[in-house]
Amino acid sequence: MKKTKASSNNQHRLRLLFLIVASFLVCFIALYGCYVYGLAGFSYLSASAYLGSFKNDACAGKYIFVHQLPPKFNFDLLRRCETLSYHMKDMCVYLQNDGFGPPMAENSSIFEAGSWFATDQFSLEVIFHSRMKRYECLTNDSSSADALYVPFYAALEAGRNLESQNTTVRDKAPMELMDYISSQKEWSAMEGRDHFLVAGRIAWDFRRSIDDDTYWGNKLMNLPQSEQITMLTIESTTYHENEAGAICEQK
Ligand SMILES: *[C@@H]1O[C@H](CO)[C@@H](O)[C@H](O)[C@H]1NC(C)=O
Ligand SMILES: *[C@@H]1O[C@H](CO)[C@@H](O)[C@H](O)[C@H]1NC(C)=O
Ligand SMILES: *[C@@H]1O[C@H](CO)[C@@H](O)[C@H](O)[C@H]1NC(C)=O
Repeated sequence: MKKTKASSNNQHRLRLLFLIVASFLVCFIALYGCYVYGLAGFSYLSASAYLGSFKNDACAGKYIFVHQLPPKFNFDLLRRCETLSYHMKDMCVYLQNDGFGPPMAENSSIFEAGSWFATDQFSLEVIFHSRMKRYECLTNDSSSADALYVPFYAALEAGRNLESQNTTVRDKAPMELMDYISSQKEWSAMEGRDHFLVAGRIAWDFRRSIDDDTYWGNKLMNLPQSEQITMLTIESTTYHENEAGAICEQK
């Protein structure tokens, strides 16, 4: 009797245990199902919203935010273009027409009037910045921008100091620029990885790696923040993933 009672107690306990385990299993399977299907549903919804946004918005994936830099990093250089002149060349002449320079006279055996300009090789950043002002997918909302443009006139600035025998002088503006841009609120979203700049000189002019006055270039592209930024130049090095040569098409 005792034994029977004990065994019925045991059976009861076993049934209870079974019930608990079974109900846990059901709960677990149901929850896991909800979790998996919920996730799938969620990704389906967000994927279709994402694709839908491409369908309705011609600018989706192409929005650009342009940083408003202190003028010493760009417009002041244009205003004081006589200080940019080098090798007896008057840079003020070459910075007109949005950086394209003066139109060349017609020469019917070579080109038509109005179609060719005497462009200086170092004005790419001025041309690019003027083009960007007319770009159709600009946004002032950095959080919806796909890329953030830093309109620093790196080549014009470097041109004034590259021949200086003092690396402190050469690096002053590049360091100020990087300190400025990395302290902006727009930087923190992706630690600068969505930023890009365009520089109208070859990359080696910005890649001095040693702080020795006899080495060429400034270190714009070797500063810690620069590694985050994509940089377009008139000629890139082949050693760095965040660099590319820029192609500008006349429209
Ligand atoms: C036009 O180009 C030809 C060939 O280079 C040259 O001989 C001629 O002087 C040019 N004419 C002008 C007006 O520049
Ligand atoms: C961004 O803001 C500036 C200054 O308020 C304004 O001139 C410009 O039109 C705005 N651009 C866009 C794309 O909304
Ligand atoms: C380089 O320039 C800095 C800043 O103008 C100056 O303090 C420093 O003495 C200069 N160095 C040399 C070697 O002239």
